Amino acid sequence: MTAAPDPGSGRYGEAVFRPGQAGEGERIDYGALVYDDLTLARLRALGAGPGWRCLDVGAGTGTVSRRLLEEAGVSSVLAVDRDVRFLATRPVRGLEVLEADVTAPDFAPGRFRLVHARFVLMHLPERERLIARLADLVEPGGVLVLGDAVDLTSDRAPETPYTVVMRAMWEGLRAAIGTDVSWVPSYPSLLHDAGLTDVAAEIHVPPLEPGSPISRFWADTWRRSRQPMLATGRVDDAAVDAALAHLDSGTCAALSAGLLTAWGRKPAGEG
Ligand SMILES: C[S@@+](CC[C@H](N)C(=O)[O-])C[C@H]1O[C@@H](n2cnc3c(N)ncnc32)[C@H](O)[C@@H]1O
Repeated sequence: MTAAPDPGSGRYGEAVFRPGQAGEGERIDYGALVYDDLTLARLRALGAGPGWRCLDVGAGTGTVSRRLLEEAGVSSVLAVDRDVRFLATRPVRGLEVLEADVTAPDFAPGRFRLVHARFVLMHLPERERLIARLADLVEPGGVLVLGDAVDLTSDRAPETPYTVVMRAMWEGLRAAIGTDVSWVPSYPSLLHDAGLTDVAAEIHVPPLEPGSPISRFWADTWRRSRQPMLATGRVDDAAVDAALAHLDSGTCAALSAGLLTAWGRKPAGEG
């Protein structure tokens, strides 16, 4: 097993996943198509509904924020992102948009009944500090819900075009922008350590079928992270192209990375 490279000094949205690059909003939407029903069901099961003031951290194209308003009927959603170009395009009653960096020491947009962050913390440094910070933004009785990717390409997974490229992707993204999913399974204990109660978690792994939204999401993600993948030395252009064809071939027979969602409640009466 090779040693993990040092986390990169670059940032999400700069060298990789630039919001201004054509199709980046569509890439985020493929992920949303895969997971939004599940996320909404969990948020509603946790009580999100009328009267709730919510914070969606790293809201991306805003699909979860809008569905919280339109389907769950929450009172308001503050959708925060470093780049709000996708959020600004479709205003919805109750949706407030804030361009801000959640890692900034002065990020303090208020107190919320729900604080939600999906596919964001895995790309950011100082996760423990950030989780504690997000827990601070939850009002007593409210919930913090975190979702991020769980990688299932373990050392035992067979060497296929898919697993080779997935491993190169995680290593390349870690070196380029600091993405690290290795600690995602420890979310529940981190939420507990942040003082939250009723902590629990679930994992959803979507089927990797040709042409499915998750396959399109990975194909697009690989295309955008090709340079960091090549820089690992694990793959060359031919290997990435082979994986793209493999993904679409009907013979991929692999496990996608999944979404781990973990949540915890701020005890009532706690400030
Ligand atoms: C993979 S997208 C996820 C979008 C959305 N949460 C979803 O699940 O569909 C990550 C989002 O986090 C935003 N982001 C990354 N770093 C951030 C930071 N430091 N502060 C605020 N937003 C950030 C990106 O701009 C991007 O919109």
